[in-house]
Amino acid sequence: MTKFKRVDPEISRRKFINIALGTTAAVGGVSLITALGSVRPVNRITPGKLPAIPGDILVYADGDKAGQPIQDADLGIKATRAWPQGKDKDGKPLVKSEEPNNLLLVFKFAESDLKAPTDLKGVVDGVVAYSAICQHLGCQVGDNNEVPGTLLCPCHSGAYDPKQGCKVIGGPPPRPLPQLPIKQEGGQYIAAGPLEFAYFGTTDTDFEKLVKEAEGT
Ligand code: FES
Repeated sequence: MTKFKRVDPEISRRKFINIALGTTAAVGGVSLITALGSVRPVNRITPGKLPAIPGDILVYADGDKAGQPIQDADLGIKATRAWPQGKDKDGKPLVKSEEPNNLLLVFKFAESDLKAPTDLKGVVDGVVAYSAICQHLGCQVGDNNEVPGTLLCPCHSGAYDPKQGCKVIGGPPPRPLPQLPIKQEGGQYIAAGPLEFAYFGTTDTDFEKLVKEAEGT
């Protein structure tokens, strides 16, 4: 009597197929895991995050009129907060409020009060707009009630003068708030260019790329 058991050929065939399928599944699984591992999260820049570009309408950021074009009658030496409103890919109005750095402050001063380095070509009848985001560590700046007509950052007391190009007049900010050149059309204030340099947290080079992307949408 032989010491080897007779093996049913059908069982052997199934066993082979099962091993082969198992090996294939294992290899496929490893490949899938490898492929997934190589996928990096995509930092999507949606149209609502892109910066202001020429043609964007300045709209109220807060209050009952939020989303409506800002009106001359509401402007003064206190800051009016605004978002740029562009268009989505279908041409519909799109308020660019998904990016906090897009928040703007709009003022109306006597024209004779505006001094260099304010870009006077980007001013309409004393109305001037700047980024609202502090260049130190990115807090939102607001009116300095102790010195009307100037701005104060609540975080580390950075101070800016919007009558002089929002130059730094106190505290740690390393550079001015960038001005947004504007023009007036049909009673609306419209961006006449992008911010004159990068808002907080972005290099000028990367900011230029964002502006180009916005102009291409
Ligand atoms: S974040 Fe504005 S002064 Fe520091």
